[in-house]
Amino acid sequence: MENGAAPTAKPVIVAIDGPSGTGKSSTSKAVAAQLGLSYLDTGAQYRAITWWMVHNGIDLADPTAIAAVAGKPEIVSGTDPAAPTITVDGVDVAAPIRTQEVTSKVSAVSAVPEVRTRITELQRSLATGAERGIVVEGRDIGTTVLPDADLKVFLTASPEARAARRSGELKGADLHATREALIKRDAADSSRKTSPLAKADDAVEVDTTELTLAQVIECVVTLVEEKRAGK
Ligand code: DC
Repeated sequence: MENGAAPTAKPVIVAIDGPSGTGKSSTSKAVAAQLGLSYLDTGAQYRAITWWMVHNGIDLADPTAIAAVAGKPEIVSGTDPAAPTITVDGVDVAAPIRTQEVTSKVSAVSAVPEVRTRITELQRSLATGAERGIVVEGRDIGTTVLPDADLKVFLTASPEARAARRSGELKGADLHATREALIKRDAADSSRKTSPLAKADDAVEVDTTELTLAQVIECVVTLVEEKRAGK
């Protein structure tokens, strides 16, 4: 059947977590597209709120200042896997949220509990509103945001493989510097107090180091189909 899912199929919620450079975004988008599901990049939401803070001159060294304005920006995510979008107060921020400035600051902003509460609410409402189901990618989706997800996947890869993929995406950025920045960001994301990057007990761990993107996509699609078939 076209698009994988039968029209009457019960909505399926898929949580895909893991550190940066494991292929989460490419995998999640492709799985959603193949199965006719919506897609949500939660990292983009944390990047968007960070962009807004930078843009408005908020002191990011001060968690109290971040918390005080966490409710202000209006963040809207478009969940079509073929053309995901993200706006803040109506401004398309798809490009500026990928700058080095935002990347280096997003861990500090996303560690603030008021920011997480706000973004988690948005994520839950998008997930429950997705008619045919949704693939949600992030760091704490299986543990905190959607603990009742039908399928939880935790993607991993060696730091070398992750740095190589990231510097490829950044069009030849220095491999060593990319590896160091990535390890630093993962350490910050894994050690924060409020819902850190973590594998849920009932998540399926997939080590993507030796796999092609096509193999990872096939693996996750099979896992979703098995769940749907009640296996
Ligand atoms: O997936 P990404 O690299 O675009 O995510 C950017 C940052 O957002 C990441 O360093 C940590 C934060 N993040 C988070 O705290 N929780 C999530 N569910 C997703 C991302």
